[in-house]
Amino acid sequence: MAPSAYDVDRIRWHFPALREGAAHFDGPGGSQVPDTVATAVVETLTSAISNRGTVTPAERRADRIVVEARAAMGDLLAVDPGGIVFGRSATELTFHLARTLSSDWGPGDEVVVSRLDHDANIRPWVLAAETVGATVRWADFDPATGELPPEAVGAVVTDRTRLVAVTAASNLIGTRPDLPAIAEIAHAAGALLWVDGVHATAHVLTDVPATGADFWVCSPYKFLGPHLGVLAAAPELLETLHPAKLVPSSNAVPERFELGTLPYELLAGTTAAVDFLADLALTDPSLPRRARLVTSFAALEEHEDGLRAHLQAGLAELPGVRLWSRAVHRTPTLLMTFDGRDAADAYRFLAERGVNAPAGSFYALEASRWLGLGDAGGLRAGLAPYTDADDVDRLLRGLREFHSMC
Ligand SMILES: Cc1ncc(COP(=O)(O)O)c(C=O)c1O
Repeated sequence: MAPSAYDVDRIRWHFPALREGAAHFDGPGGSQVPDTVATAVVETLTSAISNRGTVTPAERRADRIVVEARAAMGDLLAVDPGGIVFGRSATELTFHLARTLSSDWGPGDEVVVSRLDHDANIRPWVLAAETVGATVRWADFDPATGELPPEAVGAVVTDRTRLVAVTAASNLIGTRPDLPAIAEIAHAAGALLWVDGVHATAHVLTDVPATGADFWVCSPYKFLGPHLGVLAAAPELLETLHPAKLVPSSNAVPERFELGTLPYELLAGTTAAVDFLADLALTDPSLPRRARLVTSFAALEEHEDGLRAHLQAGLAELPGVRLWSRAVHRTPTLLMTFDGRDAADAYRFLAERGVNAPAGSFYALEASRWLGLGDAGGLRAGLAPYTDADDVDRLLRGLREFHSMC
């Protein structure tokens, strides 16, 4: 079915939160949740459930929920479900794996981080390197264009690089670096590629093997699901790693990486979120979920690109608005500042009019500073699957009023 099968009114109907009336541009911080996800969470919590096992129905239910959630994430990311690890958040998973991966690094070894990244894909590597005496090298993006060219990563990769950590998309300005080219550089040097897919996974169809990433982290609460984190890697690669774990807990992959009992209700919600994404564009329900995801993401991208163009055209007519999201390939996440006015004032002004577009640097502290925006950042307007043209018009109207008040 053609991408035009995207029916935003049908999609919005599934989001009870939207009935509160706000126009939500705060999706990059965490999306609103469809009714099907909430129902899956509630039904799991109100059904007989126990720890995973094979003896009682309650044990079998927990087991089935885990298996289904790994399968759903496998479909979303085009990876083997046997390499899906669940954790509390992408931040927690990155810290956990940074400790594990750095256990055989030492002085002279190097790790590359980028200034485009959220701190969740910087600090865990910086602290891990500090602990073992390894060196951190910084890949700088171009503040004028917002681009992180592969050459900027290549300039700091050496034959001592053990790992390159980079984002699939900036949560501040949306830039989507050329991951396959960066993977080629990292792998040619014998380094692993760790990709923060938290922002990207919500907007573009993900095919982890095609990006060349060895590790991919994402967070379902950014793509209509509940609050947890997901790591994807090839099971064969995970087999080579030995994280700190309790003695009685499973040493199998991927369970070896999962600390404590899994949040079954959130896993059920994650499966429901992937199913919801697969049906964003109504396709033939008998098609495999991955095929439906491919069609639905094509439709989502077209929908979000159209609204982004509408928003940008409106912003271009507003004097004194500076747009910082400039990269050629990027998500529909726009960072803006206002000549002579604080973005935080615009944030509050819009909030009073039921338009939620927060201001800040959103933990992309290095990126905000590199752009010259300090720790204050700017106003971020992020589009989501439920955003419609009326939302965009409300945002533009609010910004016009804000401007007229100066
Ligand atoms: C790009 C990016 N990376 C990492 C994170 C952190 O994710 P989590 O809250 O799952 O740790 C965020 C959250 O905003 C993000 O936008």
